[in-house]
This record gives sequence, structure tokens and C-alpha cells, in this order.
Amino acid sequence: MKDILVTGGAGFIGSHTCVELLEAGYNVVVVDNLSNSKEESLNRVKQITGKSVKFYKADILDKEALDKIFKENDIGSVIHFAGLKAVGESVRKPVEYYHNNITGTLCLIEVMKENNCKTMVFSSSATVYGVKNKAPYTEDMDTSTATNPYGYTKVMIEQILKDLYVSDNEWSIIPLRYFNPIGAHSSGLIGEDPNGIPNNLVPYIAQVAVGKLEQLSVYGDDYETPDGTGVRDYIHVVDLARGHVLAVKYALENKGFEPVNLGTGNGSSVLEVVAAYEKACGKPINKRIAPRRDGDIATSFADASKAKALFGWEAKSDINEMCADSWNFTKKNPNGF
Ligand code: NAD
Ligand code: WQD
Repeated sequence: MKDILVTGGAGFIGSHTCVELLEAGYNVVVVDNLSNSKEESLNRVKQITGKSVKFYKADILDKEALDKIFKENDIGSVIHFAGLKAVGESVRKPVEYYHNNITGTLCLIEVMKENNCKTMVFSSSATVYGVKNKAPYTEDMDTSTATNPYGYTKVMIEQILKDLYVSDNEWSIIPLRYFNPIGAHSSGLIGEDPNGIPNNLVPYIAQVAVGKLEQLSVYGDDYETPDGTGVRDYIHVVDLARGHVLAVKYALENKGFEPVNLGTGNGSSVLEVVAAYEKACGKPINKRIAPRRDGDIATSFADASKAKALFGWEAKSDINEMCADSWNFTKKNPNGF
């Protein structure tokens, strides 16, 4: 079995995927520039699994460094997480986002090609479904528009990967379109450790629960949803990580370009998530109703049938388990890693 290169492997989803890959018996090589993560996450991966990944602190924009990684290891496939992901920041710093995410991916593809490695699982996002499609989202829907530069990096990278496959059918590329990943490993050793004030709902609630933030703003209660608050398809990060193990196995056995949704197929409202978190942490979450947030939509959830049909993947955890695991990580690591 050849090694798997995980770009961005020290991050939130990457570290959970390293655990599942190591437990499935793969050798894992990680490249990460630690711009949004800490090496401690990989020490924790070792604590959980009893196995180590081989870590390179390097930038995927550095082709020489990438080439050295390919020369020093026997890499058969790449799971490509590395990228910047903050929606609001991408509006303020579009060039940085396009350069890091798109040029970074182009550098990676070039080095892969030079080293005859043509199998990639890529971190895409439900953001590629834009605002015109209606949930449940299926993979064949139009994905040409997004609402912010971050989202456009995913739209454009998917197009680049598709064109790459058309030009050379030896490639095998699976963009996984994640819905809303939350939760943490059940050990409480790894989880999400955002820099500064969190933008996303569950990390924000977690910091209110642990006493670091005063109050949650619920962005809008006048959407066309059952309770008026936004509905999203939250997915446990460990379910998501398991999806990568199955996707990379599929990609190693089948050539093609196949975008696949990773979601549960169910939506939860902001108020339902707050209630589940209150149950998990055993205290009320201080909240107020605030105006809608720019760029938000009412409802987003997946049609998750393709992942099941293609590689037998299904999400297992419900929103209560996701919140319980988020709280377990938060209370054990109130200041992150
Ligand atoms: P994260 O920030 O925790 O992980 C990304 C990792 O990539 C970080 O460790 C960061 O240091 C690294 N990185 C960034 N630029 C790099 C570069 N140029 N060279 C080397 N390393 C670099 O984020 P995450 O939540 O784990 O997300 C992983 C991927 O999944 C990202 O591509 C993200 O866009 C995508 N995604 C995330 C979500 C989500 O809600 N978390 C949803 C959909 C898609
Ligand atoms: C969820 C719901 C908010 C914060 C984002 C990206 C998307 C993907 C996942 C990467 C919405 C509400 C939030 C708060 C709130 N990332 N909310 N108060 O916006 O669905 O998706 O992360 O690809 O691209 O856009 O996730 O967690 O920010 O919001 O009421 O303080 O919670 O309005 O209804 P979102 P989120």
C-alpha cells in the first residue's frame, strides 16, 4: 500500500482524517504550513492512534518543498485539505485567498504530475451550490456561482480539476462537497480550534458555553423555515473523516472526476442546535435574535445518496452526539491546543 499525502493535515478536518487513515492501516505523510493550526494536533493524533504521521512543515506554494516530499516518500494519492476558509476574511483579502487556494492547488497538481501521482480527493464545499439551487442539493446541479471569494476558490478549483481529468483520463479526482462539519473526536483530544472570535455557529456556541464569549447572536428568525432560523446540514467531523478513507480507496480503484456530497441529508435550525448544545453542556446558552447575516440562505442540506451508492458511506452521528463531542473537546481544551 502506497503512502497518502494529506495537505492541511494539522487542521480541523485533516487531523480527524489522519486518525481514521492511520486506524485503517495507511501510512500518512502530512504537509502543513501551520498558518491556521498547531503541530500539537498531530501529537494528539499519535496519542489517539499510537501511530505517527510523517510531518513536513511546508507551504504547498513551495514546489521544491513539495517535490522533495514526493521524492522522499512513496506517495500514491493525495487528500488535499490545505486552504484558507474564512468567508468574511476572503471578502477583505480576495487576492490572498485566490493565490493561496488556487495557485496552491496548481502547484500541487504540477508536482503530482511530475511524480506520476494522479489520484486526489479534494476538500470542496456545499458553498458551490450557490443561492439559486434548492435543497436537497444533488451533485448534478449547477455549481458555477458562489457568494464570496472563498466560495469561488472552490468553484474554480473544481473546474480546474475537471478540465485536468478531461485532458488526461489517467487522473482520478473526487471533490468532496462538505456540508457543515462540527463535533470532535470522542477522546476530546482533537477538535476545532479557531483563531480569534469564531465565525461559525457551533464554535461560537462552544465559547459561550465555556464562558469565553457573552452571548450568541442568532442571525435572523424570519426565514422561511419551521422556526424562522437558518437550517443547515451539520455533519460529525469523524463521519466526514471516515468518508475520506472510503473516497480515497474508491479513487485508487476507479479513474474519473466524481464530485460527491458529504452530508447527513437532514437539516437542523439554529435554535435546534442551541437546544442540543444546552443538553450537552447542561446549561443555558445566552442568546439574542439579531439581524440576518449578509450572504446567508434559509436552508441548505444534502442529498447524500451518491456517497452511499459509490463507496458505501453514510453519516452515523446525530446532532446530539455532535454537540456532546464538541462540548467534551471544549471543556477539556478551553484555550484550544
Ligand atoms: P483548517 O484551517 O483547520 O485546515 C486547513 C489547514 O491547511 C490548516 O492546518 C492550515 O494551516 C493549512 N494550510 C492553509 N494554507 C496552506 C498552504 N498554503 N500550505 C500548507 N498548508 C496550508 O480548516 P478545515 O476546517 O480543516 O478545512 C479543511 C478544508 O476543508 C479546507 O480546504 C476548507 O476550505 C474545506 N472545507 C471546510 C469546511 C468547514 O466548515 N470547516 C466546509 C467545507 C469545506
Ligand atoms: C450556520 C447557521 C447562520 C453564527 C459556512 C461557510 C460554508 C462552509 C461551512 C466552508 C447559519 C447561523 C452562525 C452565529 C448564527 N465552510 N449563525 N450565529 O454559513 O452555513 O457555512 O461554514 O466551506 O462555506 O459559509 O455556517 O456555522 O457560519 O452558520 O445564527 O454566530 O448559523 O446564520 O444559519 P454556514 P455557519
